[in-house]
Amino acid sequence: MKRKSSYIIILSLLFISMLLSIPSRGQVKSDHGELDWAKLNAAFKGATFVRNTISCLECHDDIHGKYMETAHGRIFEQNPKGSLEVANCEACHGPRSKHAEEPDQSLKFSVEQFSAVCMQCHQGGERMHWKTSLHKTAEVGCVSCHKVMEKRSESALLSGANQLELCSSCHKDVAAKMSRNSRHPVKEGKVDCSSCHNPHGAPGSGMLVKGNVNETCYSCHQEKRGPFLWEHAPARENCMTCHDPHGTNNKNLLVTQSATLCVSCHQYGGHINQYRYNRVSTPYGNGCVNCHVSVHGSNHPSGTKLTR
Ligand code: HEC
Ligand code: HEC
Ligand code: HEC
Ligand code: HEC
Ligand code: HEC
Ligand code: HEC
Ligand code: HEC
Ligand code: HEC
Ligand code: HEC
Ligand code: HEC
Repeated sequence: MKRKSSYIIILSLLFISMLLSIPSRGQVKSDHGELDWAKLNAAFKGATFVRNTISCLECHDDIHGKYMETAHGRIFEQNPKGSLEVANCEACHGPRSKHAEEPDQSLKFSVEQFSAVCMQCHQGGERMHWKTSLHKTAEVGCVSCHKVMEKRSESALLSGANQLELCSSCHKDVAAKMSRNSRHPVKEGKVDCSSCHNPHGAPGSGMLVKGNVNETCYSCHQEKRGPFLWEHAPARENCMTCHDPHGTNNKNLLVTQSATLCVSCHQYGGHINQYRYNRVSTPYGNGCVNCHVSVHGSNHPSGTKLTR
């Protein structure tokens, strides 16, 4: 009895702390106040926040119309929370009292410096694994993928019109596969690169949203998860043994033609080597799965040979 009630107390404490840790707007925590601007760029030494957008616009009016179409522009100018958001332009461009008097390029940020600036408000959440992400370590930064001074994409302020266009600019080999005969409907916008990858970083290999290949696939192809009475070992281990999710010229995203694929592992005598069964060398192919219909596993009591 005593144990039970202490569980309840712990659970409710957990629940309360969860509620407290939910920031007011999504994952965004404005105003961390942690960034040392002069450390980021020595030219900021002695500069203070002007906190007066109008003074910036005296010289930069040309950029304002487009900026106001972005989430930042609207929120920082119309409904700011905390002193960083109130600082508006300077939340990203740093304290600019000296610049307003003597404008020059000395405060211009590199891609990497901008990432530190953005992370004042955007750390955690989707960007939990940013520090160790392959993108960060390859010197790709927030502003390599996001253009924040204007709205170029439907959502997420991407530098391209959509993800395929954005990611293609660097991953040409992957983008080329998206035009093959068999592919995920990425071009059609039904599946995105970010359906499978977190471009901000993820704990497992390949920056996959679910940590590994199979869990990522199961998130949409639940029926392949099983559990099955009769497993097919390679399907349980790694979908990519037989499929390339980016695209192939074989049916069903298969890495090679279906029957060729099967005999790459099942190379022994018996029925497999009989012409009637082995359709590898015939134009109408697809032989094995004509009978072995449950290549991903079977739940039929007599499905041990994956034939039902
Ligand atoms: C008196 C005019 C003037 C005012 C006021 C002014 N700027 Fe500038 N700004 C300039 C000029 C000119 C340049 C281009 C400098 C160059 O190319 O050498 C510039 C460049 C910039 C740049 C691009 C280069 C960089 O330093 O990153 C940013 C960002 C910028 N200004 C932001 C601001 C903000 C924010 C404010 C308000 C706090 C502001 N400016 C106020 C004239 C001004
Ligand atoms: C959310 C962050 C953010 C905010 C807020 C912001 N900027 Fe920028 N700004 C950037 C980034 C990032 C760039 C670099 C542009 C790029 O990557 O192409 C930039 C570029 C600029 C430039 C240089 C443009 C050029 O063509 O080189 C000017 C000038 C500028 N910003 C002024 C402003 C002014 C004025 C405001 C406020 C009205 C403002 N910015 C608000 C992030 C921001
Ligand atoms: C002062 C805090 C602050 C800074 C600095 C900041 N952001 Fe934001 N950002 C916000 C807020 C607030 C939102 C709106 C979030 C929401 O609607 O839930 C936002 C939204 C976004 C969005 C989503 C926009 C959309 O339309 O879907 C992107 C992408 C983004 N920020 C990228 C950046 C990048 C890149 C930088 C650095 C150049 C940056 N932010 C700097 C506070 C900030
Ligand atoms: C390799 C490209 C890439 C890089 C680098 C990148 N992003 Fe993104 N970001 C994206 C894409 C693509 C989306 C849209 C994802 C989606 O819709 O799920 C996105 C979405 C977002 C969003 C809106 C949705 C959300 O997660 O809240 C924010 C905010 C954001 N990014 C901030 C950042 C910041 C801050 C950085 C740097 C630390 C950064 N991004 C680096 C590609 C990138
Ligand atoms: C249906 C899921 C899925 C989609 C959609 C997807 N990927 Fe992948 N991608 C994967 C898997 C799974 C891997 C292998 C990861 C591993 O090896 O751990 C991978 C690997 C990669 C790799 C590294 C290896 C390679 O093949 O070069 C890159 C780069 C990549 N994807 C980029 C993209 C881009 C860009 C898009 C959008 C145009 C995209 N992916 C869409 C699932 C997907
Ligand atoms: C500015 C160039 C650039 C852009 C844009 C870009 N990437 Fe990358 N990406 C890289 C680099 C560089 C690496 C490091 C590894 C490499 O060289 O392939 C990388 C690595 C990756 C990997 C991991 C590859 C592996 O070996 O595990 C994936 C997955 C990936 N990117 C997906 C994406 C997706 C999805 C987008 C679009 C949202 C995107 N990238 C946009 C440059 C870029
Ligand atoms: C975001 C959801 C999503 C994820 C994650 C996903 N898929 Fe798909 N998959 C789809 C959709 C949608 C289709 C197209 C279905 C259709 O056209 O009826 C598809 C189709 C397929 C096809 C059949 C292609 C064809 O030519 O008919 C295969 C094979 C496939 N996916 C394998 C995978 C593998 C392997 C993974 C993991 C690496 C994966 N999928 C992850 C949504 C997803
Ligand atoms: C041993 C090879 C192999 C492995 C491993 C494998 N598949 Fe398949 N998959 C196939 C074959 C062969 C077909 C075509 C079946 C047919 O033509 O009837 C197929 C078809 C599909 C299809 C489209 C038709 C359907 O059944 O919905 C999807 C989706 C799919 N696989 C997802 C997956 C996922 C997810 C994984 C990992 C859990 C996986 N596959 C692992 C061989 C494999
Ligand atoms: C990557 C290697 C690999 C590929 C490719 C592969 N298999 Fe298998 N298959 C195995 C392994 C391992 C087993 C389990 C063998 C065992 O338990 O003795 C197995 C088991 C089977 C069984 C059940 C055999 C038994 O004795 O219970 C059948 C039927 C089968 N596979 C058919 C296929 C078909 C059809 C394909 C092509 C779509 C295929 N396999 C592709 C590795 C593979
Ligand atoms: C005409 C239907 C048919 C075709 C086509 C067929 N099989 Fe079979 N296969 C069977 C049946 C039925 C069994 C079960 C035999 C038994 O229980 O004695 C079987 C058994 C198997 C086994 C289990 C081991 C064994 O030899 O009994 C494997 C592995 C296998 N098939 C792989 C394949 C591969 C690989 C192909 C394509 C090259 C293929 N099969 C084509 C019907 C077929």
